Amino acid sequence: AAHRPLAGRHVLVTSGPTHEPIDPVRYIANRSSGKQGHAIAAALAALGARVTLVSGPVSVPDPAGVQVVKVESAREMLAACEAALPADAAICAAAVADWRTAHAAGQKMKKVPGQPPAPLELALNPDILATLSAHAARPRLVVGFAAETENVVANAIAKRQRKGCDWIVANDVSGDVMGGTENTVHLVTDTGVEDWPRMPKQDVAARLAARLAEALA
Ligand code: C5P
Repeated sequence: AAHRPLAGRHVLVTSGPTHEPIDPVRYIANRSSGKQGHAIAAALAALGARVTLVSGPVSVPDPAGVQVVKVESAREMLAACEAALPADAAICAAAVADWRTAHAAGQKMKKVPGQPPAPLELALNPDILATLSAHAARPRLVVGFAAETENVVANAIAKRQRKGCDWIVANDVSGDVMGGTENTVHLVTDTGVEDWPRMPKQDVAARLAARLAEALA
């Protein structure tokens, strides 16, 4: 039906930050509210898609009509994404931590008076977007995000190539986007760049979902 153009399609969405444990009480994380990713999941469901939302720790509510898989770390997020395949499309909106601690402590690390803190050894996390883009069960359309504070479009075009995804939604985070309700984005596809006006994150989500429905039609 015209109003449910994604009926019968399965779309995977990642959202939120990841938390990488240092010890049982401390973690490394990226700044992300999950507002944009969760709004995208809701917009896709509104167009009839079956949506699997793999979410890191967020305080925004679960969108209605969406299957939510809650994870903490990047490695858990990747495993949940791979377990959700096959999918017709994947939208990676999560702010995944690039690094995790190489050896998370099993017990709370103690301050020792007069001693400097122990150095943290970091390990590289898997890149979920790049992994899905190169996957044997690659979704037909893979979409990534690029949060940039300068050279927004040029960086996004390079990122699209590097990650092997189809589209990049580039957002300018030089202002008050983080945790805010509005977003200014550029959609980078194989055919060019669209500059979208500043609009509520809900509207970015609806427009992206509509574009995805066209692309999968
Ligand atoms: O490399 P960068 O973090 O700037 O790329 C951002 C895009 O890549 C986003 O779509 C994000 O969800 C995705 N990403 C990912 N796994 C990572 C790092 C980024 O899926 N480890």
